[in-house]
Amino acid sequence: MDQSHIRNFCIIAHVDHGKSTLADRILEATGAVSPREMQEQLLDTMELERERGITIKMTAVRLYYKAKDGQVYQFNLIDTPGHVDFTYEVSRSLAACEGALLVVDAAQGVEAQTLANVNLAYQNNLEIVPIINKIDLPAADPERVKEEIENVLAIDASEAILASAKTGVGIEQIMEAIVQRIPPPSGDPNAPLRALIFDSKFDTYLGVICYVRVVDGQIKPGQRIRFMSTGKEFEVLEVGTFTPERQPGEMLATGEVGYLAAGIKTIGDARVGDTITDATRPAQEPLPGYRTAKPMVFCGLYPVDGADYTDLRDALAKLQLNDAALSFEPETSAALGFGFRCGFLGLLHMDVVQERLEREFNLNLIATSPSVVYKVYRTDGTVVDVDNPAHMPPPTTIDHIEEPYVAATILTPKEYVGPIMELCRERRGEFVHMEYPAPDRVLLKYDIPLGEILMDFFDQLKSRTRGYASFDYELAGYRESKLVKIDILMNGDPVDALSFITHRDKAYERARQIVEKLKEVVPRQQFEVRIQAAIGGKIIAAESVKPLRKNVTAKCYGGDITRKRKLLEKQKEGKKRMKQVGSIELPQEAFLSVLKIG
Ligand code: GTP
Repeated sequence: MDQSHIRNFCIIAHVDHGKSTLADRILEATGAVSPREMQEQLLDTMELERERGITIKMTAVRLYYKAKDGQVYQFNLIDTPGHVDFTYEVSRSLAACEGALLVVDAAQGVEAQTLANVNLAYQNNLEIVPIINKIDLPAADPERVKEEIENVLAIDASEAILASAKTGVGIEQIMEAIVQRIPPPSGDPNAPLRALIFDSKFDTYLGVICYVRVVDGQIKPGQRIRFMSTGKEFEVLEVGTFTPERQPGEMLATGEVGYLAAGIKTIGDARVGDTITDATRPAQEPLPGYRTAKPMVFCGLYPVDGADYTDLRDALAKLQLNDAALSFEPETSAALGFGFRCGFLGLLHMDVVQERLEREFNLNLIATSPSVVYKVYRTDGTVVDVDNPAHMPPPTTIDHIEEPYVAATILTPKEYVGPIMELCRERRGEFVHMEYPAPDRVLLKYDIPLGEILMDFFDQLKSRTRGYASFDYELAGYRESKLVKIDILMNGDPVDALSFITHRDKAYERARQIVEKLKEVVPRQQFEVRIQAAIGGKIIAAESVKPLRKNVTAKCYGGDITRKRKLLEKQKEGKKRMKQVGSIELPQEAFLSVLKIG
């Protein structure tokens, strides 16, 4: 296809503002799928994704659209993951486009992820087409939303398209805007090949499938290609496009989006963000912006039944085939036995991996509470990365410790500014900036330790603002902090999987909170269980769980039937995931109790 008739674009939006629904309407409007055969929300392919309503792994679809000018255009619609954990992947898929449809919910207005995604789109020089979606809702207020788009995002909203992805209003206008407002790709067909990998996936038959955007030159089967970050070379076996099924083709030309397979065995050889060039006529410079996505959050995963250890290892290896950002290595815990230390991009990534392990591989797991990576500077001048609190060197050998910080952006109606500032203060956040982008709306910027965000920050934010505040963050480097390790002892024995790291000023409070929490979740045993928290041998908090007596429920939980039922359900849930630690049976909640404090 003539390069001037190609349009590469993506849709950016805050969660639930209607990105997938709009993508479906665009697919329908181009006849790529008939409404009948259309499975709802085709772009989200994983079952888990559909259930959770979040886009985790992106896809690219090629469509043909006959515009009002009578010409046929090739549309490449690239799906982007919407969550903060996947910022780097979002940024690479944006780099494969010339334009972005910006979807904003007509009732909700601009949210933190809208802002984060628009910033990424700007960095990639994309033409942004604002769309105000869900105008069919009674609560829709397009004029207010236009004002927010102008004030918060600094985008001219006078030409914003009013649409409803549900009823189909505005869809035709959107199709024409893609043709008229988004520029065609500008690469050089005669220059040496440069193609950006914006996603990769493992296929049992073809090996790794790279999703690419050809920037210069072209790719054909039989061609010898080189990955510029690693220097590895392969021969192209197949190229093609998604319609949305995979469809092999003869070549991918300059400006086009599609896939290639080259018998690549490991996903680590085809990293998102890398540049592919021609091995016989290589480009001088790779495309800008490559970096490897590094795990930021670690936790231990242990099979409840030790016999499942090899199954867990195989399952992790399988997931890793499709997920270059997932890392794991064997780990032993005195309390939990043999398991794996796993690294994730963030909390959502961690949740998704755990859920897939349990659901798709039928594993029963205990997860320890997540930890960030601390940089520990020792008195002998060496520096170690510690991603497991149990491995913190003894205090006397430590000179100082640094922890990762994030730059957080929070958007909220103004009545919640007080509670949000209080929450950020409790989490050791440093106030950076505040502005009023629209009447009644406030934008807050804070620097907060990543470790504090892991402890249910998001849930707290939602509950303290009744769901109205939205939040996004990016990593902002390491800073020195006065941190201490707290050990938890059960009947005098330290349980390594329960130790955690916290700020010195918070140590007493958090220690007290966690022993109280543990007292709630540790089931009664035949004997008394003493729970203690200690810093380097010094006990700073203690509680005990009384031994079992008959008729526990009736006695302890009294008359409130709903509360009783809730507790019983909780216990039933807990039953499935009990782990024998010494002589004490501990439920999964015990290992996550550090997350639920504060
Ligand atoms: P993520 O995949 O989680 O990022 O969400 P999304 O932005 O793709 O949103 P999705 O398309 O899943 O839509 C979220 C909800 O809004 C769904 O329940 C849709 O049915 C609904 N929705 C989408 N567009 C419209 C619209 O124009 N009007 C109304 N009333 N509802 C809509």
